[in-house]
Amino acid sequence: MEPKCYDRLKGQPAIVTGANSGIGKAVAVQLAKEGAKVVVNYIGNEEATKEVISEIRDFGGEVMAYKADVSKEEEVVAMFRKTIETYGTVHILVNNAGIQKDAAIDEMSLEEWQKVINVNLTGQFLCSREAIKEFKRRGIDEHISNSAGKIICMSSVHDVIPWAGHANYAASKGGIMLLMKSMAQEVAPEKIRINSIGPGAIKTPINESAWSTTEAEQKLLKLIPQNRVGEPADIARAAVWLVSDESEYVNGVTLYVDGGMTLYPGFATGG
Ligand code: BGC
Repeated sequence: MEPKCYDRLKGQPAIVTGANSGIGKAVAVQLAKEGAKVVVNYIGNEEATKEVISEIRDFGGEVMAYKADVSKEEEVVAMFRKTIETYGTVHILVNNAGIQKDAAIDEMSLEEWQKVINVNLTGQFLCSREAIKEFKRRGIDEHISNSAGKIICMSSVHDVIPWAGHANYAASKGGIMLLMKSMAQEVAPEKIRINSIGPGAIKTPINESAWSTTEAEQKLLKLIPQNRVGEPADIARAAVWLVSDESEYVNGVTLYVDGGMTLYPGFATGG
């Protein structure tokens, strides 16, 4: 059910990376519904980006698009500069951009390894670093939020569940887990909050082959105790809570939004 809008993020500039499809798009739209001024970061597919922008403008939300590769230092720095020029500051970063390049470990090329690490892990480092600089510079503005800034690192159930055939992806997500916790520990005294969301199987383009046919979906459901593949909106609602003052004392955790996928479903009947 669509939640009511409460303006929980009124006036807060928010950068969402990889925001023209899947989870990123749902998060961008939901933050805007709560009053955030959203920067829709993207790397390709201008058409899809325009659709997100008009969806947000249609309900009166404030939004701009910004094309940048999160794994490129200069592009990330320029994106933060432009956001601060346009909206005055940044209060929220959602490190969402992520890719998969699956291969058996003995067939994985160095390029497949590096590309995934660069986008999924280095991209989160670069964006977080720029966000934290701005959060520290500004400090707390109590009219806006009780925190000086909030970061969500979009992780995965695969920051704890090993994943054969996806070692590059699982390594990037495992890395995100300790990047997130180390940063959270370091900047908590400045009232900056950093947490992860660990989505399970969510219906998005990244995993379409795992749910788009009935056979595939039945197989996938065996891994999900709640017996439902997730929707991007499930993640978007959690994201709003995690960057709002309602979660003010939550810091350095991964919130799994996965229908129970991390509960070792094989043990429901075995062991
Ligand atoms: C992956 C999806 C996968 C899900 C559950 C996500 O992080 O991107 O492809 O379906 O984890 O395994």
